[in-house]
Amino acid sequence: MTAQFYATAEANPNLALIKYWGKRLEPPIIAPLNNNVSVTLDEQLRTRTSVLFSDNLKRDEILINGKLMKTAEELEKAVPQLDAARALAKTNMRAKVASATLTPLAGGLAGSAAGLCALAAACNEALNLKLSQKELSILCRRGSGSACRSVYGGFVEWLAGTHADGSDSYAVQWFDEKYWEEFRTVIAMVSRKEKKTKSRAGQKHTVKTSTLYQQRLKDIGTRIEALKNAVKDKDITKVAEIAMRDSNSLHAVCLDTWPPIFYLNDTSKEIVYAIHDFNENEIKAGYSFDAGP
Ligand code: PMV
Repeated sequence: MTAQFYATAEANPNLALIKYWGKRLEPPIIAPLNNNVSVTLDEQLRTRTSVLFSDNLKRDEILINGKLMKTAEELEKAVPQLDAARALAKTNMRAKVASATLTPLAGGLAGSAAGLCALAAACNEALNLKLSQKELSILCRRGSGSACRSVYGGFVEWLAGTHADGSDSYAVQWFDEKYWEEFRTVIAMVSRKEKKTKSRAGQKHTVKTSTLYQQRLKDIGTRIEALKNAVKDKDITKVAEIAMRDSNSLHAVCLDTWPPIFYLNDTSKEIVYAIHDFNENEIKAGYSFDAGP
C-alpha cells in the first residue's frame, strides 16, 4: 500500500520594524546576526500552501501560483525546509507542494516569509510532527529566515541566539494582534518587478564589504529595547521613528555595500518625503522598506 500524507495551512507575511540583515548561520540552518522585530500583517496578503508526502513521488515538486519551480534558485528555500521536516518525521517521502499567494514574489514584500511559514505548518500537520510554536518557528527559518516571525500574529522578535546548531534562534511573541488594534499597516505596492539583488545574496555582500554594517549591529540592541517599551506604551511617535530610522539604516548599509545595492526607487523616496511632510508637527505615521521598493 502507498503511504500518503496531506495537509493545507495558511500564513500571513510580516513586515520588519527592526530588520534582519546578515546571517550568523548560513543555510540550511539560517540564524541572523542581529535580533529583529516585525509586525505580522492581516489576511489580505495571506498565502495558502498544501503539501502531499507520498511514496509514489520520485522528487519534490513545488508549484507557486500554478507555476512549477525548476531552477536551483527557485527551489533553494522550500527543499531544505522539506528535508528538515522529513528528518524530524524520519521519512524519505518526496513531496508535492502547491502554494497560492496574493503577494508579489521577490518584490520585497515578504512573500517568501508567508509561503515558507505556511509550508512549515502544512508539513507539521501532514507528518503529524506535533511541533510547539517555538519548534515550528525553527522549522520555518530553515526555508526563509524571516518566515519564523510569521508563526505569530502581532509584534514578534526573532532571537539571533548563540548556539552553533541554531537551537536558540527562534521567534517569540511580544504582544498579540489584539494588543494594539489601532496600529495599522498600509502596504504600498510601488513596483511588481522582481528585485535585482535577492536578499540572500545582498545580505552576504553587505556583511562582507560594508564597514557601516558594524555600526548598525552595535546600534540594534538599544533600538530593540526602545521599540519594546514604545509598543508596550502604544506610543506611535516612538514606534514610527524607530521603524523609520531602522529602515533608513538598512538601506544605508545596502548603499555602503560594495558594489552598492539599491532597493528603493523614486516612488519609495516620494513616500519617505510625503511621510516626513505629514509628520511635520508630530510623528503620526512611519515608513519601512524591506528588500524592495
Ligand atoms: O528572510 P529573507 O531572506 O527574505 O530576508 C528578509 C530581509 C528583510 O526583509 C529585508 C528584513 C526582514 O527582517 O524581513
